[in-house]
Amino acid sequence: MRVLAWAAVAAALGVSACGPAPQKGETASPTVKIGGPFQLVDTAGRPVTEKALLGKPTAIFFGFTYCPEVCPTTMAELTNWLKALGSDADRLNVVFVSVDPERDTPAQLKTYLSNFDPRIQGFTGTPETVAAAAKAYRVYYAKVPTDDGGYTIDHSSAIYLFDKDGGFVEPIGYGTPSERAIGQLRKLARG
Ligand code: NI
Repeated sequence: MRVLAWAAVAAALGVSACGPAPQKGETASPTVKIGGPFQLVDTAGRPVTEKALLGKPTAIFFGFTYCPEVCPTTMAELTNWLKALGSDADRLNVVFVSVDPERDTPAQLKTYLSNFDPRIQGFTGTPETVAAAAKAYRVYYAKVPTDDGGYTIDHSSAIYLFDKDGGFVEPIGYGTPSERAIGQLRKLARG
């Protein structure tokens, strides 16, 4: 029931079903700069910066591998959308950035992403470098304790689209119909 309630809240407010938190990034005006420098590591533990994304348009999503609903749903949809795009998908960088660096090691991220389209890259880092990246991308996330003594993470649920020069284009909101999302990605890839 709790998940259903969250889903209802998400539908009403556009927030992540991981928790009822505001979506700062998704309400940002076009004059607010989204995106910027970051220093993270990929699923092999190699350093990666924003420069790795230049030259191709990018779809980027911030989440965590232990997320019960929003992240796996988004990654499954992205996988379907990339398949629908055909060769246009090869023109894109598609990136999953962890907001749970304590649990999402490069190896954990690699295992998680093996369930989805192999073109989806995974970035993680230290709590500090992840916080800096999230700030640059105007992504909200917050740890929330759970009854079992662990934690979950509320986080922004949109996919952010950037042009090949790193300029923010638009978001794909959580729950966007597939036909529309595929259209957004195709336009981005051919832009
Ligand atoms: Ni999530």
